[in-house]
Amino acid sequence: MAERYVAAVDQGTTSTRCILFDQGGRLVSVAQREHRQHYPQPGWVEHDATEIWRNVQAVVPEAVRQAGVSVDQVVALGITNQRETIVLWDRHTGVPVARAIVWQDTRTDLIASTLEEDGRSAGMRRTTGLPPTTYFSAPKVQWLLENVRGLRERADRGDVLFGTMDTWLVWNLTGGPRGGRHVTDVTNASRTLLMDIATLEWDPGQLAAFGIPRVVLPEIRSSAEVYGTASEVLPGVRIAAALGDQQAALFGQTCFDAGEAKCTYGTGSFLLLNTGAEVVTSSHGLLTTVAFHLGGERPTYALEGSIAITGSLVQWFRDSLGLIRTAPEIETLARTVDDNGGCYIVPAFSGLFAPHWHSEARGIIVGLTSFITKGHLARAVLEATAWQTREVLDAMDADSGLALTGLKVDGGMTSNNLLMQFLADVLDVPVARPMVSETVSLGAAYAAGLAVGYWPDLQGLRRNWHRAGQWTPAMDPATRAAEYDNWQRAVQRTFDWVRP
Ligand code: G3P
Repeated sequence: MAERYVAAVDQGTTSTRCILFDQGGRLVSVAQREHRQHYPQPGWVEHDATEIWRNVQAVVPEAVRQAGVSVDQVVALGITNQRETIVLWDRHTGVPVARAIVWQDTRTDLIASTLEEDGRSAGMRRTTGLPPTTYFSAPKVQWLLENVRGLRERADRGDVLFGTMDTWLVWNLTGGPRGGRHVTDVTNASRTLLMDIATLEWDPGQLAAFGIPRVVLPEIRSSAEVYGTASEVLPGVRIAAALGDQQAALFGQTCFDAGEAKCTYGTGSFLLLNTGAEVVTSSHGLLTTVAFHLGGERPTYALEGSIAITGSLVQWFRDSLGLIRTAPEIETLARTVDDNGGCYIVPAFSGLFAPHWHSEARGIIVGLTSFITKGHLARAVLEATAWQTREVLDAMDADSGLALTGLKVDGGMTSNNLLMQFLADVLDVPVARPMVSETVSLGAAYAAGLAVGYWPDLQGLRRNWHRAGQWTPAMDPATRAAEYDNWQRAVQRTFDWVRP
């Protein structure tokens, strides 16, 4: 019998990929397309959802072709996606009513700060696990309903559908206007500020707070079950999983048990700690979120520390400052100097996320002297990623009461050895990277494969995890403490900069 495979589509912030995996969790083929980032005003970030759908239509067949297999050898498709980003579209034509508003977009800061000032923040956090900030979906939907002419009436009439990117893709894959399934999974729904984190249902109080009509919302389903059969792109293949990309990475890293954690280093970075069946409420600036929910089983929860800007600081260094030509060159440049020369960069480009949740903070470079070279700046860029992780890890320890003894990492930035060593140094725990670094796609493939019986159980998946690299802490405690103190003072400056 011909070999069979599982496909995963990873619809990320900067690109869309399709990867085929075999039974051993090994990568068989990969196809990728970038999409355009639209920045119409400072703080605004938009994507064209139609362009993204076209990219899915291109990369999926390309990955299948590259693997040299036929469509009937693909047993299931799993979707994973940039979370919180929203799109609203016409259910009759499939045409988006406006560009998608991306998770990094801060145009809703007034909506968020009003809720904060009204004292509604604590209640929202209790219900949804999230603070009302610009990061999440609901304020973005409210903004579109209020700012696109005639949209509220169309939405009230039931002519408009809402989705995060998983919903948009599943709807299009299953036929779009001709009977497409309008569903989302719990992990994505848990990022909207609209779902009750305990009951896993849309919360009427939250819908009312943002003025969102129930009729636009998709049905909430588990993360691993057959939502429908693809009529487009992979005709006849079951779509059997959807997970937000960070939850997918946790799953792909096989962090199935309470106490296991991973951090993914992409555009932003996201540290998730599996807290098992328990909904842990944070008092240190972390989010409570659904980690995964395998159809028919109890949901598993996580605490999350989200960092908005890490890899995208390297992109900014490359594209806006032009100090390097390719992202990997930052390591070579940083190695031209021994340390940061006293310079720190705090990339509060979209405010600061965890653990601060300060929407108005803006980025800062401190410690400049004529001694500073571009090498020092390169180091400060990399160090910013490590220190932001340290802040999140401290919050995690304080909330969970367990001090983490190690961290599994993945994502593009983990190929930077200088950064990985610095990370182990400042966290003071060993850092390990797996052989398959595509953990986001792997997690979606695992969930889809479990749903259709391609993989029998979680135990088998654990055996697929192999370590490719490990870094152990080597920094002396006094240096670590002094550097952390400098970093925290620099962070404070990003708040001071805000006009009172
Ligand atoms: O919460 C935002 C996150 O899901 C985006 O991930 O990898 O697409 O930047 P990424």
